Amino acid sequence: MEITVKQGSVLKAKGEILILTHYEGEDLAKEIASVDKAIGGLIREVIATEGFAGKFLQTTLIRPNGKTGFPRLLIIGLGKRNEVTLDHIRKGMGRAATLVREIELGEISIPVYAKQVRRVSIRDLSQAIIEGVLLGLYQFQRYKTERPNTTEIKNCTLLSSDRKSILDIRIGANRGNRIAEAVRYVRDLCNTPSNMATPSHLAEEAVHIGAEHGMHVEVYDRSEIEKIGMGALLAVAQGTAEPPKFIVLEYEGARTDSSIKQSTRKKKKKPIVLVGKSVTFDSGGVSLKPSDKMELMKYDMSGGATVLGVMRVVAELNLPIHIVALLPATDNMPSGTAVHPGDVVTTLSGKTVEVINTDAEGRLCLADALTYAARYKPAAIIDLATLTGACVVALGQHAIGLMGNDQKLISQIENAGRETGERAWQLPLWESYFNQIKSDVADLKNVGGRGGGAITAGLFLKQFVGKTPWVHLDIAGTAWNHDGGHPYIPKGATGIPLRLLIQFLSNLTMKSGGVSR
Ligand code: BES
Ligand code: MN
Ligand code: ZN
Repeated sequence: MEITVKQGSVLKAKGEILILTHYEGEDLAKEIASVDKAIGGLIREVIATEGFAGKFLQTTLIRPNGKTGFPRLLIIGLGKRNEVTLDHIRKGMGRAATLVREIELGEISIPVYAKQVRRVSIRDLSQAIIEGVLLGLYQFQRYKTERPNTTEIKNCTLLSSDRKSILDIRIGANRGNRIAEAVRYVRDLCNTPSNMATPSHLAEEAVHIGAEHGMHVEVYDRSEIEKIGMGALLAVAQGTAEPPKFIVLEYEGARTDSSIKQSTRKKKKKPIVLVGKSVTFDSGGVSLKPSDKMELMKYDMSGGATVLGVMRVVAELNLPIHIVALLPATDNMPSGTAVHPGDVVTTLSGKTVEVINTDAEGRLCLADALTYAARYKPAAIIDLATLTGACVVALGQHAIGLMGNDQKLISQIENAGRETGERAWQLPLWESYFNQIKSDVADLKNVGGRGGGAITAGLFLKQFVGKTPWVHLDIAGTAWNHDGGHPYIPKGATGIPLRLLIQFLSNLTMKSGGVSR
């Protein structure tokens, strides 16, 4: 979609449809009142006669009959002004854009003006508007030979009469565009079935992103994974004919200014390592899953896909940080060569694990990736994983399960979640749960019994990060939307928590304190 920012009066602008917002229980904002005046009070008339109160996501379509440059106006309610947040803006714009698509128009115009959301800059507002539009319009139609929806909104114009705001609107809109395009990319990867989205495919994507943005990429194959000593990842991968890959992507941000003298250049910063669970299909292995909804297990690589999307945005926004991305990628399949329940494997850390249930494969792959991550002596490790059904039971679709060993890092993630609407809720990693993952024959076992399944999985991972500040995000519930109805998250893969992570990383670059301590 083409995004344009135009300076000038809404009254003089032209287009197919203008999106206006309205707050519950208030008179028209002055920017809208001027449009109303130009069309002879039609908006006020509709509000008075059609019972349009401006309730959140309430909409009304007005045809002003040629008295403005727009043959149609769509008014969208945002609810009570003092309750409106950026997430209301994203939702409102997502709903507005999908309605515009339903009436088969090709472009939309949206006025942007200050003070639409309390304590929010016009830059952040513009970002949220573009995110709402692009995320709301997302569809996955790659494998449909007959496209049900032929119309596509090709242009989105942001309008402002305030010359001083134009630059901020441009910056915000660009940021929104980059972030939303990356979320759409992640959704595509997760929606793609596992016969296409294989470990090799993820590796190709990593190589592509790396080449585009000058990042270093390494892809290790089965024999190299063996040489490195990743016995746990290998155990998961031993049941599948699909070649596993261990993918490493490294970005060292903002090294563009060659005029800076070598001596004044800062010492290479400790990286932040992002680890994404990349099980391209989770059948459960020998501990086979029931067939109902098993097809959804193509999204068991959401963690890895999101990490790839984050790397893309970080490079596009040229964030001045050092990030390493790790994707342990494999299918989890039953076969004659598959790992058996009861088998003991030696992880990269040297710790041994008894595989009680081959369906608890995520923590096996992650164990080795986390050990590998800690070797960078990073400032922080963040892993994202569709790790447990227990997390879905505990928090449903509405919150990411958040665990870790560093309360400051946890709070920073929590804040980024609140700021982006991709909310995360902390679960405890108390040592008292540890008994549940003690094995009779090895150092650890890979399942922790019935109670607290998300926590025992998190506690298992904790054994592999040493003292490095670390956070684990269980996205089993949030990475997939099972039902429609959300204004900017259609059914299917959600791309969560890409926006959270970009916010977190951006916050780090703004506050000089860096990660933790
Ligand atoms: N990938 C699943 C977790 C999952 C479940 C993700 C539902 C998305 C939706 C994971 O590998 C798994 O199978 N976990 C098991 C662990 C159990 C055997 C201890 C689970 O949660 O049932
Ligand atoms: Mn599993
Ligand atoms: Zn899994």
